[in-house]
Amino acid sequence: MVDLSAVVAEIAAEMQAAPDRGVPAQYIPGLRDVDPARFGMAVIEMDGTCHLAGDADEAFSIQSISKVFALTLALGAVGDQLWTRVGREPSGTAFNSIVQLETEHGIPRNPFINAGAIVVSDVLLGRHEPREAIGEMLRFVRGLAGEEDIIVDRAVAAAEMETGHRNMALAHYMHAFGNLKNPVERVLGFYFHQCALAMSCRQLALAGRYLMARGVQPGATAGERGRSVVSPQRARRINAVMMTCGHYDGSGEFAFRVGLPGKSGVGGGILAIAPCKASIAVWSPGLNARGNSQLGTLALERLVQRTGWSVFDPG
Ligand code: DON
Repeated sequence: MVDLSAVVAEIAAEMQAAPDRGVPAQYIPGLRDVDPARFGMAVIEMDGTCHLAGDADEAFSIQSISKVFALTLALGAVGDQLWTRVGREPSGTAFNSIVQLETEHGIPRNPFINAGAIVVSDVLLGRHEPREAIGEMLRFVRGLAGEEDIIVDRAVAAAEMETGHRNMALAHYMHAFGNLKNPVERVLGFYFHQCALAMSCRQLALAGRYLMARGVQPGATAGERGRSVVSPQRARRINAVMMTCGHYDGSGEFAFRVGLPGKSGVGGGILAIAPCKASIAVWSPGLNARGNSQLGTLALERLVQRTGWSVFDPG
């Protein structure tokens, strides 16, 4: 029997001492100014046991990890019709790449690259005001985590807006193909606020429990029944897209090293799911060349080495 608390503490200590931490995202002050020495980790098991280490309670910008929650909401809103507007194939390109959109007629490869997430934002916006769509997203993640103190960092959202020329290009390009229904400014306003959600590792791991538990968000206490968020099939499918697309052109490498569905964000966080075993969040702001957390990936690699967790060997 693995002593999970000891393993998590051990990994955090190793990561705190690691010399090569990668480089935090530089494009906005809210990400650039974060201390690269920070490291947090949260592992929540099926029975609710929670193992925390390092800065697990420190809120950080979840960025693209929000795309998992947005996809979940969009599938709830329009069902499998979503797949007519966004694919589910790995892109093999950078998260903000535009190259495939021309030959593929404005249909992004998957919902986790920026272009795909912008289409998902358009779906969620529907005929709502951006403010209402952000409110819905906030209620959703607060409900999943069971905590109210999750906020959108407005300074980060505003800075994203100012520097978001690539996202604007993607959105306008897709609009030209008829794959955005709402005005670009409104879609991006919602998209940037969703990326600017600030959550801790503990809150993220709590919010991801439905993906660990066949679509059911466990109750707050042992006796309390869980709430179905998505069907078991949909939970498996979201996990499949996380596995194949969650780390952009680093998805193959992540599957090879970690072997679990995972979604990264440019803020340095990763949400990873060991189905029926654990919901895991790590945070280390320094990124590798593909824009994924360098030590976050290493920490997850060490966690699966020590626990034996893998979707390729359910044990
Ligand atoms: O739209 C962007 O480019 C950022 N707000 C989010 C990108 C991101 O998190 C990519 N992740 N590794």
